[in-house]
Amino acid sequence: MSPDEKKKAAAMAAIEYIEDDSIVGVGTGSTVNYFIDQLAEIKNRIEGAVSSSKASEERLKKHNIPVVNLNHVNEIPVYIDGADESTKNLHLIKGGGGALTREKIVAAASNKFVCIVDDTKLVDMLGKFPLPVEVIPMAQSFVAREIAKLGGTPELRQGYTTDNGNIILDIHNLKIINPVEMETKLNQITGIVTNGLFALRPADILIIADNNEVKTIRR
Ligand code: 5RP
Repeated sequence: MSPDEKKKAAAMAAIEYIEDDSIVGVGTGSTVNYFIDQLAEIKNRIEGAVSSSKASEERLKKHNIPVVNLNHVNEIPVYIDGADESTKNLHLIKGGGGALTREKIVAAASNKFVCIVDDTKLVDMLGKFPLPVEVIPMAQSFVAREIAKLGGTPELRQGYTTDNGNIILDIHNLKIINPVEMETKLNQITGIVTNGLFALRPADILIIADNNEVKTIRR
């Protein structure tokens, strides 16, 4: 299977987790774009979607899937999103597409997080993919110095502004031996809005497409 075929296969497998008459949490990225296209096929079965980004919102609307404000929703049974890296414990790095803050909010507000990836995203240890952190612009230098104290090398994502009007620092060379501990430490740095580690709230189900099949890991 080509990389795109794998993404599509993982996205298709996620459809079975969608509950009838529910609001679906929708992530961001190229894998999720395939999911949105699949969701359009069953849109009459759902009430609508809460989106984690302006980009996903646009795609949902193009398919005439109602997009609902999270503040107007009582329950999101299932959130579907991709990841940049995942371990077998379903700890993730997310934010390659820059939508990590809204993704973390929708994941936190959802009962179940189903993560859809191709097999290239599965790793033994997180951190080869530079860890994105969303930062309030005036805190850039301070946050960069604090990250250096943790052993990371922050790099400004050039020319990029998040949906929330902030910047992204991509952290290279970070040794993430204990993802929960590292996520907690980064959460303590004033000026960081969100870090891209999803370990305190990991995925519940990981759908992985490889060349031959689609596998599922549950937490
Ligand atoms: C966006 C994300 C995406 O889920 C992550 O970057 C994976 O994207 P793709 O499916 O395009 O590989 O976290 O902020």
